[in-house]
Amino acid sequence: MQLREQVALAPYTTFSIGGPARWFAEAEDENSVVEAVRFARERGAPLFVLGGGSNLLVADEGFPGLVLHIALKGVEQKGDMFHAAAGENWDDFVSLAIERGYGGLECLAGIPGSVGGTPVQNVGAYGQEVSGTITSVRVLDLNHLTFSELPAAACGFAYRRSIFNSSHRGRFVVTRVSLRLRRNANPVLSYADLKRYFAGRATPPTLAEAAAAVREIRHAKGMLLVEGEADCRSAGSFFKNPVVPEKMYDEIAATAAFAVPRYAATRGFVKIPAAWLVEQAGYHKGYVLGDVAVSSRHALALINRGGATARGVVALRDQIVASVEAKFQVRLEPEPVLVGFGGDGQARSAG
Ligand code: EPU
Repeated sequence: MQLREQVALAPYTTFSIGGPARWFAEAEDENSVVEAVRFARERGAPLFVLGGGSNLLVADEGFPGLVLHIALKGVEQKGDMFHAAAGENWDDFVSLAIERGYGGLECLAGIPGSVGGTPVQNVGAYGQEVSGTITSVRVLDLNHLTFSELPAAACGFAYRRSIFNSSHRGRFVVTRVSLRLRRNANPVLSYADLKRYFAGRATPPTLAEAAAAVREIRHAKGMLLVEGEADCRSAGSFFKNPVVPEKMYDEIAATAAFAVPRYAATRGFVKIPAAWLVEQAGYHKGYVLGDVAVSSRHALALINRGGATARGVVALRDQIVASVEAKFQVRLEPEPVLVGFGGDGQARSAG
């Protein structure tokens, strides 16, 4: 285990925001993960497990404990089963699977972050969720300091949710993800954007063409990390799409001047695109508040215009949440994980 002190966290996040970690450990194998956990415990220090840093907002004051960066590497394939170490880059893993002729992840191309983060929020995009292919997740159970293999059914997967970010938050460290992929599968083209992209084509696209299309669509929305592009300094979608009862949707639709977009959700509920609510509440694409802005390409991403602070992001977040609630009686929930903030999502006072 490599250990450093006072390490700036901003470079480890796609937002490029955040103060230093008191301690910072890099784990390249499972023993180092245990060693780091013990180190934190001996000092009574809080622990934060860092993956790809693509879904995080780190406080300006940083994190007062140990940040454990998961750098475990390696992908093993046995037939249609793939076992990927948590520290592998997600998009590289998707590309590898497709190169080998396996489908199931093509719509999840171009998502920044690491493999280990994907089961935590059950990453999803363009008609697929990782829970559709994950068979089990190898974890370190922090209650007993033992490793175990949690079958998918025990992970409680739902929209942007699992036991890892809800009922058992903070209990497990993901070290490996096992997925069953489908050899020579046809790409899933259920999402409207993808259907539009391939409309009029006589032959179905290959997995690689579908993945390339997803990357292109993500790029147009500023949801692909491209070095040097300002709109990419974000944590992707900043809010979850709220799932509301049908009745509430009808009430909103009754007051709106034109059709309110909706996605299917579980029976009796409707998912409303948060981006639409944000725009209707007055925050158009490109809306600026100091060094923070609503992305000019997608209203659901807040971006760091350069030099932004976590405090600045929180200020815009609070304004948007208040405006959407006042207009629609819907309370938006942020999607990124907050690190170094108090329980209310407000920054801790320094020191
Ligand atoms: N819309 C707007 N303004 C915008 C963008 C979108 O009003 O600037 C409305 C439109 O009505 C549009 C609808 O929102 O039809 C949906 O937009 P989009 O297809 O871009 O998807 P989304 O619901 O905003 C979700 C995920 C994304 C994922 C896409 C594609 C969440 C919180 N976000 O976004 O995931 O890539 O679908 O599947 O579920 C992420 O989680 O970080 C992320 C990027």
